[in-house]
Amino acid sequence: MTEEIAVIPGDGIGMEVVPVAVSVLDAVGEFEFTEYDAGDSVEAETGEPLPAETKQAAATSDATLFGAAGESAADVILPLRSAVGSFANIRPARAYPGVDALHPDADLVFVRENTEGVYAGIESDLTEEVRTLTRVITEPASRAIAEFGFEYAAEHDYDVTVAHKANVMARTDGLFVDTAARVADERGTDYETHLMDALATELVMNPADYGVVVCPNLAGDVLSDLAAGLVGGLGLLPSANIGPERALFEPVHGSAPDIAGEGVANPVATVLSAAMCCEFLDKSESAERIRTAVMEVLADGPHTPDLGGTATTEEMERALLDRL
Ligand code: NAI
Ligand code: MG
Repeated sequence: MTEEIAVIPGDGIGMEVVPVAVSVLDAVGEFEFTEYDAGDSVEAETGEPLPAETKQAAATSDATLFGAAGESAADVILPLRSAVGSFANIRPARAYPGVDALHPDADLVFVRENTEGVYAGIESDLTEEVRTLTRVITEPASRAIAEFGFEYAAEHDYDVTVAHKANVMARTDGLFVDTAARVADERGTDYETHLMDALATELVMNPADYGVVVCPNLAGDVLSDLAAGLVGGLGLLPSANIGPERALFEPVHGSAPDIAGEGVANPVATVLSAAMCCEFLDKSESAERIRTAVMEVLADGPHTPDLGGTATTEEMERALLDRL
């Protein structure tokens, strides 16, 4: 079956890495791609970083592949995630043979609540000098992320750790961990809980002791970027924003203005996001072919400068397509 993919390159290196992921997808399956605008460049032209047509495409396509936006990122990616009804953000961080990593044995998957917490967007100015933010934790969203995390861990054979700070945020994170405990109990699954700050130390020192980490929104954002540093950098980290019927796939990194336009961005994060897209669309064989090609290229080279090599994005594309 031909799947309809909305393609949103966005700004900066998004425009360089997304075409690589599209040609890789084209090499492994039947897809129909339609490209849409979003980000700083459209905002400069129209005053609006996310055209209604782009949001609509994410809400109706089988899946969406997004690159990155620049300064307008929050105004682009948050509505796009909600357009696909995304409640779960999956961010795998694993080390690969051939890539210099602080922890070559790290194989982590962050399963991050994607709708609430401190990113619920409820901020106010009480006075000129005092500003507040409301942290929202609900039972349904906590249940959804816990169920998703436990299921993902069971399917992929990982242990589960639930990150929280319920010793301080007793009402909100208390609800988060209590809900996870109920879900674990219903499923008869073993799991651990960990205070998120202490977990940060643990992840840096002993990442191999952890597998799936179920997190509230902000903790998942920060801990997954930290994990990127353990395995070789942001150029390697893919992500999936999963909804009940649709999903959006994007690298964890941003538009990288410091290297944009030079043609040296690492496309691996976006290509691995495309592999996650195949898995979501029940094309597991295509997903596996992409992952194998990526692992072979990382093992044997070429590598882009972020991994210590000299390859261009285009050379990476050729190497990946050769392997496929
Ligand atoms: P960033 O992820 O764009 O870059 C951080 C560092 O990692 C830079 O030195 C960059 O060159 C490097 N890097 C990132 N991806 C790379 C790749 N594929 N290959 C090689 N090197 C790579 O984060 P930063 O600098 O904090 O933000 C830059 C812009 O991106 C900002 O305007 C920010 O708002 C936006 N942003 C957008 C996101 C999104 O659209 N989802 C996520 C994060 C940031
Ligand atoms: Mg982030």
